[in-house]
Amino acid sequence: MHNAQWKTRKVVIVGAGAVGSTFAYTLAQSGLADEIVLLDVNQEMVKGQALDLSHGLAYYPNVEISAGDSHDYRDAHVIVITAGAKQQSGQSRLDLLQRNAAIIEDIVDNIVAQGSEGIIVLVSNPVDVLTYLAHLRTSWERGRVIGSGTVLDSARFRYLLSKQCGVDVHNVHAYVLGEHGDSQVAAWSMTHLAGVPINEYCEQCGGCDGWGRLQREIEEAVRRSAYHIIEYKGATNYAVGLALVRIVGAILRNERSVLTVSVPLEGEYGLNNVSMGVPSIVSQNGVESIIEANLSPREEKALIASAKILQESIKEVSRLR
Ligand SMILES: NC(=O)c1ccc[n+]([C@@H]2O[C@H](COP(=O)([O-])OP(=O)(O)OC[C@H]3O[C@@H](n4cnc5c(N)ncnc54)[C@H](O)[C@@H]3O)[C@@H](O)[C@H]2O)c1
Repeated sequence: MHNAQWKTRKVVIVGAGAVGSTFAYTLAQSGLADEIVLLDVNQEMVKGQALDLSHGLAYYPNVEISAGDSHDYRDAHVIVITAGAKQQSGQSRLDLLQRNAAIIEDIVDNIVAQGSEGIIVLVSNPVDVLTYLAHLRTSWERGRVIGSGTVLDSARFRYLLSKQCGVDVHNVHAYVLGEHGDSQVAAWSMTHLAGVPINEYCEQCGGCDGWGRLQREIEEAVRRSAYHIIEYKGATNYAVGLALVRIVGAILRNERSVLTVSVPLEGEYGLNNVSMGVPSIVSQNGVESIIEANLSPREEKALIASAKILQESIKEVSRLR
């Protein structure tokens, strides 16, 4: 429980579709949770998911998996919300806003009504806008309602850099900031390979022809990743499942890991009234604090532009509701 001794580690997953069920499967294999409870409006489907997942119990580390209901919010340590309509081919994340805002507010009201002391992790898109709305809705202290933010985008960025540079992805340190979406910002100024800033590494390596062009191509590939995968197979689920295990693991194990989760900003980076992906220290309390990186002027400008886009969406949906 929040700030208390935990006997069992209970994770509730709301939405047992492609993302929710893959996350449950990955979390079960990780051994990080003692209890995983799945909730979905589709009662038949969620029972089926819980049964199918439970039939693997002999092969996971010890864990209980079940289908539950809103009473499970009460003693959950982490509640991961993947419920909602998903992005259709060619549809922008912001188009989903209206539909998913109503669903999320309803779920959040239920969580609060159950007296939950857990941490909420939003995943449903548009994740930054929904995280901000959910944060306002709970009136909880900042950091207890967070979004998956650009944790997945940062992994995609690291993957592409690793391929380009021919260096193990674990030695590539790189972050995508801002919106989990079209206005995201690849923070080149924070990018290191084995402690060497990327530009210095490039000079030493000399293996790339036209690094400036390649940088733009990598940024664009990260930004377009979800669109391509959705066109190919209808949903993204594996990498996001792993990104969620990383976030939830940092909470359950009180790791104080630095992750670019989406968190409401209160003056950091000169921004307010918005939630977006920024490097944050993640512990059992959710986000403990935000790290303010020394960005380049171009990156700072892009981050402010990303915040403006999200603030407009927040205003738009607040006006309509
Ligand atoms: N943040 C990220 O990095 C990221 C990555 C991938 C997908 N997503 C988002 O995650 C969400 C889920 O994607 P998906 O592919 O799993 O979709 P999906 O359609 O497969 O699953 C969504 C599930 O939510 C359920 N649901 C709908 N309303 C509900 C409610 N009120 N209560 C409980 N359950 C409800 C549906 O029945 C369905 O099973 C989408 O919004 C998608 O855009 C986010």
